[in-house]
Amino acid sequence: MGTTPSHSVPFFRPELTEREIAAVVATLRSGWLTTGPRTAEFEAAFAEAVGAKHAVALNSATAGLHLATHTLGLARKQAVLVPTMTFAATAEVVRYADAIPILVDCREDNLGIDLNDARIKLERLRRGDLSHQTPALPADTEVVGILPVHVGGLMLDMDEISAFAQQHRLWIVEDAAHAFPAAYRTTSGTPWRRAGEGTADVSCFSFYANKTITTGEGGMAVMDDADRAQELRSLALHGLSTDAWGRYTSKGSWDYRILAPGYKYNLTDIAAALGLEQLRRAEELRRQRERVAERFLEHLKGCEGIAMPPTDTDRLHSWHLFQIRLTKAGPSRETFLERLREGGVGHSVHWRPLHLHPYYQQCGWRDTDAPTASRIWSSSVSLPIFPAMRDEEVDHVIRVVRSAAEA
Ligand SMILES: Cc1ncc(COP(=O)(O)O)c(C=O)c1O
Repeated sequence: MGTTPSHSVPFFRPELTEREIAAVVATLRSGWLTTGPRTAEFEAAFAEAVGAKHAVALNSATAGLHLATHTLGLARKQAVLVPTMTFAATAEVVRYADAIPILVDCREDNLGIDLNDARIKLERLRRGDLSHQTPALPADTEVVGILPVHVGGLMLDMDEISAFAQQHRLWIVEDAAHAFPAAYRTTSGTPWRRAGEGTADVSCFSFYANKTITTGEGGMAVMDDADRAQELRSLALHGLSTDAWGRYTSKGSWDYRILAPGYKYNLTDIAAALGLEQLRRAEELRRQRERVAERFLEHLKGCEGIAMPPTDTDRLHSWHLFQIRLTKAGPSRETFLERLREGGVGHSVHWRPLHLHPYYQQCGWRDTDAPTASRIWSSSVSLPIFPAMRDEEVDHVIRVVRSAAEA
């Protein structure tokens, strides 16, 4: 039986300002609850914040990933390169189209999609060597896209991803669920580019409760192509002609047209009101997360049994996650997590890779199809990191982690 910890630090704790709460209340009082003026404002402000031409607010990042792949024409039996080291959403949207996610291993350093493995998988596919998949993948399967993920908010080099995509004629849908605000540059001296700033055909952000900015549930799809933005916007509201968005206003009309069988993915103005206020303090919130990360790095670096997450002077890190890795010198993960539990430290694991989940195993994926992810995930631990974390909470986590690693 564990002892009762004198302190406890949750994995995440939301903290909203009075101004944010007032903005939501004002919307509740405004008489306009669903998608309307606040949503339009939020879209314009977010597009500007990431340097994209168009933004469509949605009720999740998953909706964005779905509509992005849909508007790019993803069709039955086509295939998409998807990292195995990601959340369910990134691959499930490919299955929505009855298309096939080809699960790609991760890089050892930043857990991002391993382009060498992607290349090998494409070659194996052409040789008929991925035919153990269910449904079987014929050698002439058309691979049409790639869905990179910026794990934890540390951006991948999107120049490298673009070059790979161009070489293999793939579209790119960027899963930027963790990556706002985040930016990269290829080397110092080259210009910074933000996630969403022309980095993909469509980039999708998440505003789920524990993300770097939140609307409770919500997401944003950004892109430069005006036609795609219009189609995506229409599909987010039942495939109605886009003038239907204002159909209950004096400017709108009852007389919409159904252009396609769409979905119900729109964001409410209640959520957008919160999003707008969060957006205003996005850089402040990022700095608060960065401060926690820096304190962890300073006090946990060199601690035997654990390795720190990568940092890079050519990245502006959103610090959505702080993932440590247990090294061989330390305790097993189960023991380590038990010690965190006893010490009152909330934690999580990002993630059990997709190819090790029952559904993808039933689809034919084996542990050996992504050996790095299969090995790494069992030593990965995500520590609490959130803007409202107080110094004494950070120090409590540091103390418990040190003693759990060294005990
Ligand atoms: C990498 C990644 N992609 C997509 C999503 C889905 O985001 P949402 O909950 O906004 O649909 C998540 C959610 O945590 C995620 O971690």
